[in-house]
Amino acid sequence: MTQDFAQQLLATLGPDLVALGADIPPRYHHDWAGLPPVTPLALVRPRRTEDVVALMRLCHAAGVPVVPQGGLSGISGAAHPRADAVALSLDRMNRIESVDPQAAQIVAEAGVVLEVAQMAARDQGMLLGIDIGARGSCQLGGVIATNAGGNTVIRYGMARDHVLGLEVVLADGTVISDMAGLIKNNAGMDLKQLFIGSEGLLGIVTRCILRLQPAPRAIETALCAVADTQGALALLAHLRGALGPQLSSFEVMWPSFYNVMAPGAGIALPLPPRGPHVLVEATGFSDTALREGIEEALGEALEQGIVSDAILAKSAQEGRGLWAVRESVSEYPVILGPLVPFDVSIPLKAMAETVALIEAGIAARWPGARALTYGHIGDNNLHLVVALPDPADHAAEKALKGFVYDAIRDAGGTVSAEHGIGAIKRDYLGHSRTAAEIALMRAIKATLDPKGILNPGKGFAA
Ligand code: LAC
Ligand code: ZN
Repeated sequence: MTQDFAQQLLATLGPDLVALGADIPPRYHHDWAGLPPVTPLALVRPRRTEDVVALMRLCHAAGVPVVPQGGLSGISGAAHPRADAVALSLDRMNRIESVDPQAAQIVAEAGVVLEVAQMAARDQGMLLGIDIGARGSCQLGGVIATNAGGNTVIRYGMARDHVLGLEVVLADGTVISDMAGLIKNNAGMDLKQLFIGSEGLLGIVTRCILRLQPAPRAIETALCAVADTQGALALLAHLRGALGPQLSSFEVMWPSFYNVMAPGAGIALPLPPRGPHVLVEATGFSDTALREGIEEALGEALEQGIVSDAILAKSAQEGRGLWAVRESVSEYPVILGPLVPFDVSIPLKAMAETVALIEAGIAARWPGARALTYGHIGDNNLHLVVALPDPADHAAEKALKGFVYDAIRDAGGTVSAEHGIGAIKRDYLGHSRTAAEIALMRAIKATLDPKGILNPGKGFAA
């Protein structure tokens, strides 16, 4: 029955849009979650919204599931295909429709790569304030569908905070379009919020309007050494007070991360490894004022003993060099092999004790495991990646997840900060959401997608 449907899809939409079987390139068989590759029932690569509408009408009528795909760089498996489902890749809907510096907006299709959108904004003297490590491959539709975070959330917020307009195709092919780009529009509900961060369970994002910022003219980057997690938090409070909104990144790398990734990635350590290192970035509109501001702020931090050592980059190039260790996370698989990744939030007041408890607990219970801790702690967001001694030991992996997620729940945190639930965290949704919340999410899904064809088995889907 499903194979018949695939043939029918090919006949109806044509070979330009539809590929089957061996004609589906392997890159669509998996995302970055590390799940076993799967050949989807069909791959559909629409060129315009009307193609998505046509596909969804056919799938809705036949009750065939659809897995939306963007740049496939998600690590929770939300875009991982299924053998019984159509993979819907938005990668050919990659037009930037306009960049308007006066309105401070960019209008683009969902398949535009984030870095391409960033550059288009920069060409007009503007900044798109979303930035994540996967900028060169992730696409705007996926960034929105996952409510992605990244390295500048402390200054500009999550993806949600950038979305001014959205066009979405619902499960039955209905187009919901809010593309007026108005900052204020309290005429009824702000429906686009439903789709942001819902991991393709409620609709397919096809076009968007994103907010732009004036491009900062000055940038300063510093690497600071602090004694411990409390020291990192003290530095955060100090810099927030001293720099205000100019503080644009605050990335903490604990020794477990820094001491492994710097030599592992072949990067010379700019500071001798002791306690955590904090990568600080500040941006502003006056070179001299920003420089003086950060020099004064770091000087005070040194005087007050919050920071034991600091390097302030002398040039933009040196600044990028300071980012190298933090950006080396793409080297994980080479340096560490198969990993169990964690992306969690912890209230700041519980950060220090929770990090210590988790690091000590892993060392005691899984001898030989390597656990690397880092994160965007100004946003509560901790990343932890663990290489178990035997990556094939699934019982150990399950026990490890239980241990970490229980600790996060007990600390009042959440099991997903910025990477979603996808396919891999479904068992732990109840750690962070009440039964009433999950029931409401599912009731909304049942209204928008009564046949349950959008991304089944992912996120909060039953
Ligand atoms: C990072 C990704 C994993 O911040 O979110 O490195
Ligand atoms: Zn991150």
